[in-house]
Amino acid sequence: MSPDRDIERIVLIGFMASGKSTVGRQVATLLDWDFIDFDEEIERRTARTVRDIFAQDGERAFRDLEARLTAELAAAQHVVLAPGGGWITQPELLRAMPDGTHVVWLRISPERAVERARLSGTHRPLLAGEDPLGKAVRLLERREPLYRMADTVLDVDDRSVRELADEIVRSLSRSRAGR
Ligand code: S3P
Repeated sequence: MSPDRDIERIVLIGFMASGKSTVGRQVATLLDWDFIDFDEEIERRTARTVRDIFAQDGERAFRDLEARLTAELAAAQHVVLAPGGGWITQPELLRAMPDGTHVVWLRISPERAVERARLSGTHRPLLAGEDPLGKAVRLLERREPLYRMADTVLDVDDRSVRELADEIVRSLSRSRAGR
């Protein structure tokens, strides 16, 4: 195992409501690493909600904020990063992550994503309004090829946070051993 194969950071990608934040927090606890949820960090720094940023400035402005935050955090060590589900629509951000980055896709079905999003209380501008399931299906269709860039894929429907977190930690050891 050469030092440059060591994993310094994990990025959890996946559709809205796939559990990036809850699972990410648990993984960070297991590893004793830091955890950063991009939506929360953007809201904290701008003192605005994601909902307001989308409504007042548009999606493009939000994507720019995600890109800036990524550039700042890309080299952070011993950290679990959970960007929002649309972060992957700028795939150059993922490609620019340095060596030592382990990317995990939490794969969720559109049906389950919409159900969880409805129950969560978090406003998701891109699923709001008429036909959220149709919107989720179409967004997922466009994004799936991008999520596939991940090193590890985990199906999250019907799995507990703890199970998923344990599996991610295990995938890390496999990756450390040289995949
Ligand atoms: C988005 C996902 C959201 C949030 C914003 C846009 C998306 O984050 O960043 O509403 O484009 O998929 P979650 O994946 O945490 O819901």
